[in-house]
Amino acid sequence: MSKRVAILISGGGSNMLTLVRSMTGDHPARPVLVVSNTPDAGGLAKAADMGVPTAIVDHRPFRGDRVAFEQALHETLIAARPDIICLAGFMRILTPGFVARWQGRILNIHPALLPKYRGLNTHARAIEAGDDAAGCSVHLVTAELDDGPVLGQTPVPILPGDTSDTLAARVLSAEHRLYPAVLRQFAAADPASRPA
Ligand code: GRF
Repeated sequence: MSKRVAILISGGGSNMLTLVRSMTGDHPARPVLVVSNTPDAGGLAKAADMGVPTAIVDHRPFRGDRVAFEQALHETLIAARPDIICLAGFMRILTPGFVARWQGRILNIHPALLPKYRGLNTHARAIEAGDDAAGCSVHLVTAELDDGPVLGQTPVPILPGDTSDTLAARVLSAEHRLYPAVLRQFAAADPASRPA
């Protein structure tokens, strides 16, 4: 039976698009829901155009009450019965309590070669440090930010004259290849054999 995948976004949703497009044919998973925490996320219309149900759980009315926001998010997710949750440009930090409720089932894509450059402004930090390569990682989400077991990584060379924008564009292309490949493998694996 196909695994059910919910995808959480905050913006344009280009990673979400590549994930949804990948889940056809003999793929072991299907998209069941795209959720955004911002009502104006461009990805919502793209998901709807592809026939994927969408939901908005706006974080702003919760005014910093993360637990209440996450309860609303949790209820929205529960209704869709996902086996796997993919964070795809989802710009809210999840509390350990939320992560525990979905333990071992949340994936994230991060635009750096973890464990380097957790958090934001990853490309500028890699250029500033004089690194030869940047890249992207897909990892399991744990209670610590950008810290769970890495499931796949793609290095992307940093070229002379790169700005954070030019580098970000090349890393994003790599993300679009990496995330669907890791999701396919993760969905196909026996849950008992996955990292916790
Ligand atoms: C990606 O670079 C992702 O790694 C980062 O935010 C960006 C989201 O892009 N966390 P998109 O919304 O998938 O186009």
